[in-house]
Amino acid sequence: MNFTVELAERSYDVVVRDGARDQLAALIAERAPRAKSVVVVTSASLAQQPWFTLTSGLEEFTLFVPEGESAKTMTALDELLEAFADRRLSRDDVVVAVGGGAITDLAGFAAATYLRGVALVQIPTSLVGQVDAAIGGKTGVNLAAGKNLVGAFYQPLGVLCDTSVLATLASRERLSGLGEVAKCWLLENRNVERLRGASLDSLIEMAVGLKVAIVGADEREGSSRVLLNYGHTLAHALEKLALRRGPDELRHGEAVAIGLAFAARLACALDRVGDDEVKYHDAVLATLELDGRLPRHYDTDELLEAMTFDKKARHDLGFVLAGVDGYSLVTGIDRAVVADVLERFKGEL
Ligand SMILES: NC(=O)c1ccc[n+]([C@@H]2O[C@H](COP(=O)([O-])OP(=O)(O)OC[C@H]3O[C@@H](n4cnc5c(N)ncnc54)[C@H](O)[C@@H]3O)[C@@H](O)[C@H]2O)c1
Repeated sequence: MNFTVELAERSYDVVVRDGARDQLAALIAERAPRAKSVVVVTSASLAQQPWFTLTSGLEEFTLFVPEGESAKTMTALDELLEAFADRRLSRDDVVVAVGGGAITDLAGFAAATYLRGVALVQIPTSLVGQVDAAIGGKTGVNLAAGKNLVGAFYQPLGVLCDTSVLATLASRERLSGLGEVAKCWLLENRNVERLRGASLDSLIEMAVGLKVAIVGADEREGSSRVLLNYGHTLAHALEKLALRRGPDELRHGEAVAIGLAFAARLACALDRVGDDEVKYHDAVLATLELDGRLPRHYDTDELLEAMTFDKKARHDLGFVLAGVDGYSLVTGIDRAVVADVLERFKGEL
């Protein structure tokens, strides 16, 4: 299925299908006809995967970046930009990112900044990449002070979501992606019964459709794009605290699942929705085999502190919450209420 991110002259297609990566040559010929070479940015382990074959129709060279979150550092960015320069990449050429969200974020930011912007194609290979990271133009790297603190909005020429490559994804990475899928299902307010029979491809299409529509309406997160942060206020705080226990303690989507279950409970405590909404959230998470429970070892005060200073919270405690008129960003919530809901939520374990 093809979706279009409508952004006037920067509009582009997101192709979701088995074999989508085969469209690379046609995409480059159409959108970057002057290109002479293509630099593929990926990791050494992904390049070993059986599906790793690309045809761009142009001279190609491949650059390897570190695996996972270690790709999103200023050091990796520096090395990548120097490698672009060594290869004399010109403004007419194309950067093709092949990897999970970490690689699409890093390569996207490198493409946004090298020569003040070179063409970019995103080929996301993880579920998080396909339903979220590679679409919408948010690119960037992390600082010691926090995730995604340096970056740029930079839209690609196209996004090729090849669903066949997901076959080699580890089950924990797949579940992580389902956390974002659950968020989209809830935002769309879709029926749990339909979720039970849904194929992974149809879920990817649902999530991509939602993200494409929201980015087209609000590229820079001035209004509706904030809804895509549903569940993320608590998720970001959990991820920050989890890092102390090691990089593999909590995957992003696992944190989002907990954040979604919490957001329903908070909305209920604020009388914005009834208990049925909490049950609906729990049923969506359970159907996708996601664990929405908040582990007891996260300290409530530390979570509150981390949530207040979340990059997106603008120094105020803000949550996207369900309500009678749908979802909206709610700020100025009494910290004592948030603390109380967190404590009671932990007690559900
Ligand atoms: N820019 C955005 O809008 C946005 C949105 C959501 C997440 N993100 C970012 O995305 C990152 C998380 O992305 P992620 O969950 O994809 O993690 P990731 O990029 O770290 O990939 C997870 C692991 O899966 C492996 N992998 C990827 N595709 C594979 C495949 N087809 N087969 C086998 N292994 C494969 C990777 O090599 C890696 O080891 C975070 O840094 C997050 O901040 C960005």
